[in-house]
Amino acid sequence: MSSDFPAYAPTEEHELLRRTVRELADAKIAPFAAEVDEQARFPQEALDALRENDLQAVHVPEAYGGNGADALATVIVIEEVARACGSSSLIPAVNKLGTVPVLLSGSEELKKRYLAPVAQGEAMFSYALSEAEAGSDAAGMKTRAVRDGDHYVLNGAKMWITNAGVSEYYTVMAVTDASAGARGISAFVVEKADPGVSFGPKERKLGIKGSPTRQVILEDVRIPASRMIGAEGTGFKTALATLDHTRITIAAQALGLAQGALDYAIGYVKERKQFGKAIGDFQGVQFMIADMAMRLEAARQLTYHAAIKSERAMHGETVPDLTFVSSACKCLASDVAMDVTTDAVQLLGGYGYTSDFPVERMMRDAKITQIYEGTNQIQRMVMARQLLK
Ligand code: CAA
Ligand code: FAD
Repeated sequence: MSSDFPAYAPTEEHELLRRTVRELADAKIAPFAAEVDEQARFPQEALDALRENDLQAVHVPEAYGGNGADALATVIVIEEVARACGSSSLIPAVNKLGTVPVLLSGSEELKKRYLAPVAQGEAMFSYALSEAEAGSDAAGMKTRAVRDGDHYVLNGAKMWITNAGVSEYYTVMAVTDASAGARGISAFVVEKADPGVSFGPKERKLGIKGSPTRQVILEDVRIPASRMIGAEGTGFKTALATLDHTRITIAAQALGLAQGALDYAIGYVKERKQFGKAIGDFQGVQFMIADMAMRLEAARQLTYHAAIKSERAMHGETVPDLTFVSSACKCLASDVAMDVTTDAVQLLGGYGYTSDFPVERMMRDAKITQIYEGTNQIQRMVMARQLLK
């Protein structure tokens, strides 16, 4: 897919991709979404369907065996999968999150070795920044990486890692110079198979229950120095530069969840009768539907706009407001998703509050989009820093 955008409107190719993914998600992912949520199990059916159609990591460039889909196409894939199942949308989203550090700062050797298996669906890639005591203040991490000849030895525990245990590869941020603050953090590729790597129990969560969230525990994990991503001390910058690209994918997840809930609510209000007519005939209900769709479309346009900027930056262009638009679209889309999914529950009345209907799951899934990849308070802080600097 071309990355030369005359404007930020999706092309015909993007719309064709949307239709293809929507059909696939409706047929192969949506039927398992309730079960995956109820049993809090990994959505293997979704991974299989995405792999069969080469959609598990569309962003990997052709040079490394991937589809080379642009950032907008990646957003559309995540959006359409999330419309069917929030947990499943974290497969393409986190594959992007895990690999962008390598794409942005990794050596050619790392790119060749680690990107192709992800592009080909043989491996998944997670991103390990957060720790139990260092979430919003990510630079406060304690995990250490100590140089020992041609190797580094890692010790510590990364908390809340999405797809931990399922992913073969992990971008891990660790302190290499404790006296240098954020400039003393470096990034590494750690493999699940590295001796000393283990995983905590699955967190029991409000939503995205099908997406495993676990600690990644590192005990004397000895890896070659060539697995460092970029130069020593540049890991925190790489981690934040990555989020400039991937907060857009969380916005995409939020859009998909909101669209799924809106579509379901529209179908419902046309069918459900009270006072002798469809509840969709009442102006009070119509205004709710109109507001939901209006705000969703506004969030979508900002997200697509940010995706185009991300793509330009990936191609080496200087995009001074990428950090701002990336935070802005994640913050707006997740707030809209929380409101739209909550309103969808409202529109279904008592039925909406039961797990016999999908909107309560979508509401629970939407909540996380306001928290991860930086809480929305942190997004507002990032935006304000950009505006005031
Ligand atoms: N790109 C590149 N470099 C950047 C940057 C960016 N967007 N923003 C800041 N930097 C650089 C700064 O220039 C600075 O470098 P110098 O010292 O060389 O100038 C360095 O990074 C440190 O920057 P700050 O002083 O601004 O750092 P800080 O400690 O004050 O805080 C923060 C930064 C914005 C609060 C950051 O810690 C943050 O974003 N916190 C939220 C954590 C987060 O988003 N975690 C996501 C985990 S992943 C996840 O959740 C996965 C999932 O959902 C599936
Ligand atoms: P805290 O930082 O303790 O924040 C608590 C509250 O204080 C929040 O409301 C926050 O907004 C507020 N707050 C904190 N500082 C400020 C401030 N300066 N100004 C105003 N308010 C502030 N991390 C990864 O590295 N990789 C992953 O794959 C990953 N996946 C995740 C999946 C799930 C399901 C969850 C729950 C988390 C995941 N995370 C992941 C971690 C996530 O990014 C953090 O939870 C998030 O950044 C918040 O950190 P915290 O939980 O420590 O909250």
